[in-house]
Parts: sequence; C-alpha cells; structure tokens
Amino acid sequence: MTQPGSNSHCAITGWGVALPTTIVTNDDLSRRLETTDAWIYERTGIRQRFFANDDETTATLAAQAARAAIARAGLFPNDIGLMIVATCTPEQLMPHTGAFVGHELGLSCGSFDINAACSGFVYALEVAVGMARNGIPNVLVVGSETMSRIVDPDDRATAILFGDGAGAAVVSAHASEFESFLSNDLGCDGSATAILGVLAGGSKLPSSQKTLDSGDHFISMNGQEVFKRAVLAVVESCQRALNRASLTCDDVDWFIPHQANIRIITAAASRLNIAMSRTVVNLDRYGNTSSASIPLALFEAVDDGRIRPGDTVLACGFGAGLTTATSVLRWPATTKESR
Ligand code: UT7
Repeated sequence: MTQPGSNSHCAITGWGVALPTTIVTNDDLSRRLETTDAWIYERTGIRQRFFANDDETTATLAAQAARAAIARAGLFPNDIGLMIVATCTPEQLMPHTGAFVGHELGLSCGSFDINAACSGFVYALEVAVGMARNGIPNVLVVGSETMSRIVDPDDRATAILFGDGAGAAVVSAHASEFESFLSNDLGCDGSATAILGVLAGGSKLPSSQKTLDSGDHFISMNGQEVFKRAVLAVVESCQRALNRASLTCDDVDWFIPHQANIRIITAAASRLNIAMSRTVVNLDRYGNTSSASIPLALFEAVDDGRIRPGDTVLACGFGAGLTTATSVLRWPATTKESR
C-alpha cells in the first residue's frame, strides 16, 4: 500500500514485450491432439499462442523485453539499480534467471527471481515499488515464461492453454506528477497447492527416471477447481485493493485480469460490475503466458492508446499457490521520455 506521506511518486517509465517467433494455432494442436478449434475457443477464448524455438528461452525473451523497457524509459543499463524477474519457468533451477538476463543486458546491479506463478509480475511490480520508494531510483521488473517447456504436449487439458512470452517495466521514483501506485493486495492460499503445479524436480520429489516416466515434470492441473477458486480469488483481491485506495469498481477505467480463460475473465468482471468494454482481453492471440500475461495485456492497451495518462487501472493476477496479486495504478502523466 502507498504509505501516508510518501512523496516519491513512483511510476512505470518504460515498458517492453517480447514474443517467440513460432505461432501455434488451435488447428495445429488439433492435428496431434483429440481436440478442435471450436472446443478450445468456446471453453477458453484462445485461438493461438506463441511457442519458443530451441534457441529462445525464458532469459532470452526476458532480455528482449527488458532492453525495450530500458530504452523506452530513456535509460541505460547502468541506470538500473535492481532487477526482479518473475517466472515459474526459470532458465534452470540454479542460478536464478536474473543472472542470465542481467549478463545479457550488461547490468551490474543485483537481481533476484520471484516465483508466484501467474501472479508473479504483479508481485514483482509491488516489490519494485517498495524498493524504489526506499532509494533505488530505477528498478527493472520482468515477467517471462516458456510454459511450452513444462506442458505435456500430449495432455489436451493443459497443452491448449499455455503460451510463451515476456513483458518488462521500469519502475522509477520521482517519475510522475502524481503517485501512480495507489494500492495493492498480495495473497496466497497454500491449502490449494495440489490443484496446479509441477510435482517433480524440487526438494519433495527430485527428478528421476521414475518421475520422467510418470510425466511428473509436466504441469498437472485440476482445471475446474482452479476455475472456481480463481473467480472468487480475483474478485476478493480486487475489492480489497480498491478499498485500500478508497476507490470502487466504478472508478476503474481499465481492468487488466490475468489472461487464463475468457470465462474466468467474464465471470470476474461481471461480479465486479466492470463492463467487458473496460476489460482488456488478448488471450485469443497469446493464450495463458503466466507471469507475462498481465504486462502483455497492460502494455498493449497503453501502446494502442486505450489506457491514457490519469486512467485508473486495476491489474489482477492469480496462479499456482494459489496466489493472487492486485495493483491499483493511475497511469502516469509524465514519463522520463517526456520530462
Ligand atoms: O493461470 C491459471 C491456470 N489455469 C487455469 O486458469 C485453468 C482454469 N480452468 C479452465 O480454464 C478450464 O477448466 C479448462 C479450459 C481447463 C477446461 O474446461 P472445462 O469447461 O472445465 O472442461 P472440463 O475439464 O469439465 O472437461 C469437459 C470435457 C471432458 O470430457 P468428458 O469427461 O465430459 O467426456 C474433458 O475430457 O471436455 C474434455 N476436454 C476436452 N475436449 C476437447 C478437456 N480438454 C479438452 C480439449 N478438447 N482440449
């Protein structure tokens, strides 16, 4: 939450996105899976997604998006004081993905990863705001995923949902005429860890021939349970965050929900009483890109002129954990470019 008396006026001053080169349509998937374009579109709202090629990884996509964000902020890599990478598909288990991205960008600052699954970008954004308010002038935040690497290509229930991509933002202190980050709500219901996750490869179930044979290195999901919990979690998290900013849903110019399923989005928007005309949806083109989903939607709406300076933006992610993360933003009036 914004601290009373805080006058650092943090804002997003630069942003960028990156997508892999290969588009995979529903028809492409239906050639190898028992599914159809009609089923996928009706049940999810997805038409296509991007899948990384062998030479594209979470770190390469992150670096591409980050480079664009730094340039757009009118900065150089040396100006970045900290980088936070949100991902649930890390470059490798160790070292953290930020090490690879920072090396690629020529950063000399510290970095760390956040894994809050699809809520990761908003978590990272709010941590970045805290760090910026506490004296780091420019914090780089990246949400980057290669979900195609952890999806079982033969599981029609999950293979149709996910896509790859990245989005990045520079959060700067003293960057706007008014405070841009109005409030937040971060949550996690750890009783729901079993409904969505990757079982193998960690401390509880190290990778072995057995886990490979059983497919435990792939995502497993109870789709209906995630669906039900997600709608409730999004609605409650958005309400808490808006309350903290002394705002209501009527004050929201743009709702940026995590792009998981059009039916989850419409159900949450309807319960919040936010019209779909004020809700940004782009999952038809990208699928569920996890921590890249909110930046891909937010920055698309900024770049095409829907979101304007002064607009109130409600961004809400939910994901494995079950995590939720909401930011209430006022889109900045001035950025470093225009100062
Ligand atoms: O970031 C968070 C990530 N996860 C999510 O957001 C997932 C949330 N859940 C969902 O989006 C939905 O639950 C799904 C899209 C995954 C599934 O939709 P659903 O309406 O909940 O379908 P269902 O699981 O109830 O399955 C209905 C039927 C089943 O067949 P039977 O048992 O009725 O004969 C499934 O086997 O649809 C079948 N089915 C499919 N059919 C064609 C499941 N996947 C497919 C498929 N194509 N791809």
